[in-house]
Amino acid sequence: MNIRIDKFVSEQAGITRSEAKTAIKKKQVTINGNIVKSANLKLDTEKDIVAYNGKELIYREFMYIMLNKPDGVVCATRDELSETVLQLLPPELIRKGLFPAGRLDKDTEGFVFITDDGALAHKMLSPKSHVEKEYIVTLEKPYEEKYKDIFANGVTIDGGEKCMPATIIFTDDNKVVRLILHEGKYHQVKRMMQAVGNKVTHLKRIRIGGIKLDEALSPGKAREITREEIDRLY
Ligand code: URA
Repeated sequence: MNIRIDKFVSEQAGITRSEAKTAIKKKQVTINGNIVKSANLKLDTEKDIVAYNGKELIYREFMYIMLNKPDGVVCATRDELSETVLQLLPPELIRKGLFPAGRLDKDTEGFVFITDDGALAHKMLSPKSHVEKEYIVTLEKPYEEKYKDIFANGVTIDGGEKCMPATIIFTDDNKVVRLILHEGKYHQVKRMMQAVGNKVTHLKRIRIGGIKLDEALSPGKAREITREEIDRLY
C-alpha cells in the first residue's frame, strides 16, 4: 500500500499528524536510511523501511494487544476516577483508536483484548461467533456436582435472563472451578454463581477463543498478539 509518510508515522507511532510533521522537520524520520525532507513523500508499506527516532516502525494495519489486567483497573477508554486498561500500555503499543474488546469488572483480573480493529472486535464479541472465554473462578463455598448440569442446560440468572450452555470444570481445590462461556453478559460469571447459591470471591480470565493468557505477563503487563494467535481466535 502507498501512503504519505506523515500519515504512516502518525498511525504507526501513535502520535498526531502535526507531531509527525514536526518530527519530519526535525529530521527524526528516515525511509530506508535516508532522512525524509517532505511530509508529502509517499512510501510503499510492503517494501520501505521507516524509522522514527532511530527505531523501526513495523507497519501494521491494526494492533492487537493482550493485557493481564490487575485488580482495580477499569476496562474503558477513559475514566474520571480510576486507572484504565489503556493507561497501562507501554508507549510502543499505543495507537489512536485502541479500545478494550469486551469488559472485565474492575475487580476481575486477567486477559483483556485491546485493539483498534472494530470489525474483528464486533465479530469476536457476537454470541453468534461462539468465541469461548475461560475463567478461573474462586468460590466462597465448595462447588457442588449439580452445577455441571445446571450450567450445561443454560442457567437462568437474576432478571429471568437465560444463559447459553456453559462448561464447568472442577479442580482439586473444592472452591476453585474453571468456567467456559460463549457469551459475555454483564457480571455473567458472578450472576451464574449467585443463581446456584454460591458467590465469586476472585475471578480471572485466562483464555479468549484459542488464545491463552501468556503466563509470562505479570499483572499490569501487555504484549502484542501475534498473527498466529489471531488466526486461533475463532
Ligand atoms: N463475569 C463477571 O461476572 N465478571 C467479569 O469481569 C467477567 C465475567
